Amino acid sequence: MSDDKPVILTCAQPTGVLTMGNYLGAVKNWASMLDDHDCYFGVVDLHAITVQYTPAELRRNTLSCVAQYIACGLDPERASIFIQSHVTGHTELAWLLSCTTPIGELQRMTQFKEKAAKLGFKTSGENDVKFTHEGARAGASVNAGLLMYPVLMAADILLYNADKVPVGNDQRQHLELCRDIAQRFNNSHSPTFKIPEPYIPKSGARIMSLQEPSRKMSKSDENSTATLFILDQPDVLKKKIMSAVTDSGSEIRAAEDKPGVSNLLQIHSSLSGVPLDDLEAEFTGKGYGDLKRAVADVVISAMEPVGQRYKELIEDKSYLESVLKNGAATAQKRAYKMLAKVYRKAGFVERPR
Ligand code: TRP
Repeated sequence: MSDDKPVILTCAQPTGVLTMGNYLGAVKNWASMLDDHDCYFGVVDLHAITVQYTPAELRRNTLSCVAQYIACGLDPERASIFIQSHVTGHTELAWLLSCTTPIGELQRMTQFKEKAAKLGFKTSGENDVKFTHEGARAGASVNAGLLMYPVLMAADILLYNADKVPVGNDQRQHLELCRDIAQRFNNSHSPTFKIPEPYIPKSGARIMSLQEPSRKMSKSDENSTATLFILDQPDVLKKKIMSAVTDSGSEIRAAEDKPGVSNLLQIHSSLSGVPLDDLEAEFTGKGYGDLKRAVADVVISAMEPVGQRYKELIEDKSYLESVLKNGAATAQKRAYKMLAKVYRKAGFVERPR
């Protein structure tokens, strides 16, 4: 990991099992960027506590998350994989940045508003955000951490002086805020932070729900057959794929008026590497059942080694620990440097050595 490669940083919350959408849309792409970049990958456990959680579950999910990403191809030899709470600096920098971030900017974040709404709070007005407590569940409240979430995310990024940040569309606004925060600091002190660019991979596939192909495949879909999880057993994968919603007509082609079929073709193509055109040709004259069987085969054979690797990893605590130890050490080195620089510029007295 030399200093001259651009630095890529991305993080994920430890929330359960990855979906085929996460795998094809994001993880697989990061794995392909390892050679040309200095890569940092954080599992953000401190973000995970901004919503209700159970400590034992958080611990389990955090380790599981690490194992899943490695099983999906994030190679710890070529990327620093670390747990956010293991690296000193994330929360410190978040505090510092929070002191220059107007509350209003945070209250305007779409994700904050959505999460607040889920708790029964409504925001009124675009700029003048007042919380109208409408039907909040007994005892529910919007905690300050939820509001601070994007500042902590900005700290994650700026602490490593990352050049590029691979994020999904839902995180673009947070990245935009991070850029503003960095710019503000640079303006009031002196150039300190690089302004991070969003990294949108060329070939990132957008995988849709199997039951409602107009919606993105989601971890939290209420309909359990709509989502393929990377650790689903082969028979479960098969069942879900065979019951996927298809479209009227019987032609197998990728087109806007065929969202269900297009989605299945896309899944196949992303995993098999066969271009969509060739798949269409291959399935000419065949039925939806044939397509589904073929997709199931491709998915099952792609996920089998992932599941196998995951099982080995999750049972090998000492290996996981060594990955996390190395990851945290590399991350910490970079983070300390940055934190010291920022503290100095912000006027703090240097720590006695
Ligand atoms: N908020 C991101 C998400 O939910 C996770 C995240 C936290 C992140 N810190 C980050 C992503 C830094 C990229 C860079 O997906």
